[in-house]
Amino acid sequence: MGNVGGAVAHQIVATGLADDLVIIDERTAKSNADALDFADAMANLTHHTNVVANDYDAVADAEIVISAVGKIDLQSATNPDRFAELNYTSTQVKAVAHNLKRVGFYGKIICISNPCDIMTTIYQQITGLPHNHVMGTGTMLDSARMRRAVGHALDLDPRSVTGYNLGEHGNSQFTAWSTVRVLGHPITELVDSKHLDLDAIDQDSRIGGFTVFKGKRYTNYAIAAAATRLARTILEDAHTELAVSNWHEDFGCYLSTPVIIGRDGILARADFHLTELEQEKLARSARFIHDHYAEVDP
Ligand code: 2OP
Repeated sequence: MGNVGGAVAHQIVATGLADDLVIIDERTAKSNADALDFADAMANLTHHTNVVANDYDAVADAEIVISAVGKIDLQSATNPDRFAELNYTSTQVKAVAHNLKRVGFYGKIICISNPCDIMTTIYQQITGLPHNHVMGTGTMLDSARMRRAVGHALDLDPRSVTGYNLGEHGNSQFTAWSTVRVLGHPITELVDSKHLDLDAIDQDSRIGGFTVFKGKRYTNYAIAAAATRLARTILEDAHTELAVSNWHEDFGCYLSTPVIIGRDGILARADFHLTELEQEKLARSARFIHDHYAEVDP
């Protein structure tokens, strides 16, 4: 229930995404106060949510757990890198995962905690839940940043832009331009006529989190929108194609590629064709995640 968990919880309550919401934080006074604050909001909201705090047993039959475990000020302001969060957050995530296993949680896990692909792997390994029931928000957020940057360059709503950033939710990710379309037109066909600098947009989306981070020391609204959209997609069994962190047996790690999401979690891998260069970038990003996972103590 830090800046990220709080924004996620607020979005859930404000949009009526769930009937029951359990909020957990080791700072129990804070999460108890948050629960009361939400209860005081109910009289003036259009949806009702039952909010309880700090009760792992109440999570046992939950449909979805969203992990926003983390800590502010772990990354350096001058040289931000999500891997600076590895030691602290992996310890916390392991404790949460063991608690979920202890209470017999058998729903889906959406992991936001960073470094996202590695924390998602830890959740799956400790809980033993099926790989397709454990996912990370991954590059769903970076794809949104890319769509914002493309939309901005063309003076268009980001929802008129489709396509993905792929790989690690981190510095080795890349925009897969072969997947990007603007109002149905492949973006690669618009580069000259619209004077687009794709390298600059790729860089903008990769460092977009850090740009926000430098201004306020954390990011929260965009990730809350991504995580709650993902949760809604599961609850509604919508079969939506999204790029989220999913298990790749061939690479031996979690990383983001487009998949179809529904009530059973990750239903299928989406059909997508990358250029040879994009395939190399994806493999490089996978190697990076795989090698860093080896640094985590079991
Ligand atoms: C983000 O990209 C910091 O991972 C977080 O907003």
